Amino acid sequence: MKILVTGKGGREHAIITALRESAPEATLYAYPGSDAIADLATRVEAKDLLDLIAFMQREQVDLCVAGEEAYLVKDRGLANLCAEVGIPCWGPIKEAAQLEASKAFAKNFLQRHNIPTAAFSVVHTKHEAQRAITKYPVVLKFDGLAAGKGVAVCPDEAAATEFLDEVFTKRSFGEGDLIVEECLTGPEISIFVSVCGDQYHILMPARDYKRIGDGDAGPNTGGMGAVASRQIISAELLAEIEEKMVKPTVAGLQKDGLNYRGFLYFGIMLTPTGPQMLEYNCRFGDPEAEAVLPMVRGDFAGYLFSAAKGELKPELVSFNEGWSICVILASAGYPASSRNGDVIAGLDSVNGSRVFHCGTRRGDSGFETNGGRVLAVVAQGDTREAAREKAYQSAGGIIFDGQQRRSDIGRMHFE
Ligand code: AMP
Ligand code: GLY
Repeated sequence: MKILVTGKGGREHAIITALRESAPEATLYAYPGSDAIADLATRVEAKDLLDLIAFMQREQVDLCVAGEEAYLVKDRGLANLCAEVGIPCWGPIKEAAQLEASKAFAKNFLQRHNIPTAAFSVVHTKHEAQRAITKYPVVLKFDGLAAGKGVAVCPDEAAATEFLDEVFTKRSFGEGDLIVEECLTGPEISIFVSVCGDQYHILMPARDYKRIGDGDAGPNTGGMGAVASRQIISAELLAEIEEKMVKPTVAGLQKDGLNYRGFLYFGIMLTPTGPQMLEYNCRFGDPEAEAVLPMVRGDFAGYLFSAAKGELKPELVSFNEGWSICVILASAGYPASSRNGDVIAGLDSVNGSRVFHCGTRRGDSGFETNGGRVLAVVAQGDTREAAREKAYQSAGGIIFDGQQRRSDIGRMHFE
């Protein structure tokens, strides 16, 4: 089997590792991939999506797996282009990927299908936004892909005014509307579901840590770590989420004529009055993928291939019991900036953990930093403490200048 994965980060390194382990004989490609991914998959150069599709046709690629979200809505859409030439794609068509690409689309979808979510209004101007804000704190969301920077939880008018200036005056995220949303409180949880038309399969729940600093201090990042385990939430709560969120989402997609195929990520807040949907993402989470995927057993490649062709076969995979913890090592300056070119020492000494490369490149003296999030160090254990200890022990052996990492991944929100 020939499989191509789109993307270049830690999530894609984890997906490709899982595919490689489940299908040692498969030919793997990555577009654009990374130097670390190149050890497992052939990197593909293509000048655009059409060029990539032509490559896949030429090489008779059997399956395309979407890692990064951007290609799903670029040009005519990765999955749409694959469909035109008959290549099974695990990742939704452009029309369905609006669930992630447009927050207004997602909020209207949630409302239309009676799925619990915070009250909201969509506004087009700064003036409308000011009129729609009736109390603080308030949540303001730019209606488009903004690399995780398009959401502001504003405690007061000053913070709201600053964000409104970014959106409407400076147009920092480009043209687009704004969502003014009621502010909810509670711990967050990520639920990953494989959706294939009217079939679905709930994978393992996970939790990510978005802030840069210990105790959830400082600015939001792409994610500084993640925890995955069946035990993160009770069976009752998972059943409630399935009834109130997963089932109506799958039915809603059907009703709206959207044939969704791919991972669907439910970002949920566990509020005092029950679970509420914060967002959908049309892909696996990053860094949740790095924590969840090492727990997958069975024929992962066959599972994705069958699902991409329209038949979900949950029996092909299972998930380990126990816990998986992912600690991110980030570069100097992240998240405001990032520093490239710092030499990474100690990668060879890692024992008992996996290391996925989020942002590295090969330099003269081995791997060096090449992005904000640099490495994901991941370990499993029977208990949360055991997984945590292993992950942190391995992380401690990896050294580069300016390294930032949180010390409370897998502890905060659990103790
Ligand atoms: P989103 O991209 O919509 O998930 O928002 C990013 C982050 O902003 C979420 O993970 C939450 O931490 C926070 N957030 C989003 N919506 C709300 C809300 N209605 N109330 C409180 N926090 C929120
Ligand atoms: N972990 C958050 C995300 O992938 O968007």
